[in-house]
Amino acid sequence: MQTNTARIDVICASAPVIPVLTLENADQALGIGTALVNGGLKVLEITLRSDYGLSAIKQLKKALPDAIIGAGTVLTPQQYEACVEAGADFIVSPGCTAQLLLHGSQSEVPLLPGIATVSEAMAAMELGYGRFKLFPAAVVGGMDFLKAIGGPISQLKFCPTGGVKPTNAADYLALSNVMCVGGTWLTPAALVEQGDWQAIEALARQAAALAAP
Ligand code: 3PG
Repeated sequence: MQTNTARIDVICASAPVIPVLTLENADQALGIGTALVNGGLKVLEITLRSDYGLSAIKQLKKALPDAIIGAGTVLTPQQYEACVEAGADFIVSPGCTAQLLLHGSQSEVPLLPGIATVSEAMAAMELGYGRFKLFPAAVVGGMDFLKAIGGPISQLKFCPTGGVKPTNAADYLALSNVMCVGGTWLTPAALVEQGDWQAIEALARQAAALAAP
C-alpha cells in the first residue's frame, strides 16, 4: 500500500482548489458536482454536515467517474468507515484525534487530517502523516502560520481551509508548503438557492485557473 502522504499528494495535485460542499439533495448534488467538474475542479470535499452528505458521496461517485470524491467533516472512526463504504476516495477531518489518526493510518482510503498547531502536526507525524488541512486557516494565523512552520518543519505540506477566498487563494498557493486550498466560496448560498449551476461553473473555471506552486 502506498503511504498516506503519497496518496494525498496525487489527490491534491489534481486541482488547485478543493470546493467544500454541504449538499442537501440529489438534484443539488448533481447540479453542483457537474458544474464544478465541468469548470475544471475535479476534487470535491462533500461534508457530513447535512443529512444528505453520505448519499451525495455515493451518488457523485457513480455520476462523476472522473471526479475525486472526498468526505469532509469526518469526526470519528465510525464516520470514516461509513464514508469508505459510501465510496469516498479520501477523508478530511477538521481536527485530529489519536483515534482518528490511528484509524486513518490503517485504512486504504487516505486521510487529510486537520491541524491548527505545530504540536498537533508533530503528534500526527509520529504516525506517519505529512499532509494536513490547516483549519481554520485564517483564524490560526493563515499565511503567517504556514511561513513560520515551513522553517522548522519544511517537509510538511498543507491544504489551508477556512477563510480562503478568491482574493487570497493565489497568495496561499504561492507558498512552497501549500499544495492546494479548500473553501466554500464556489457555492454561494444565493446561487445554490437559485440553482444557478452555470454561475457556479464560472466560479470553478476562475478557481481552476489559479496556479498551484
Ligand atoms: C471547511 O470545512 O473547510 C470550512 O468550513 C471552509 O471554510 P470557508 O467557508 O471559510 O471556506
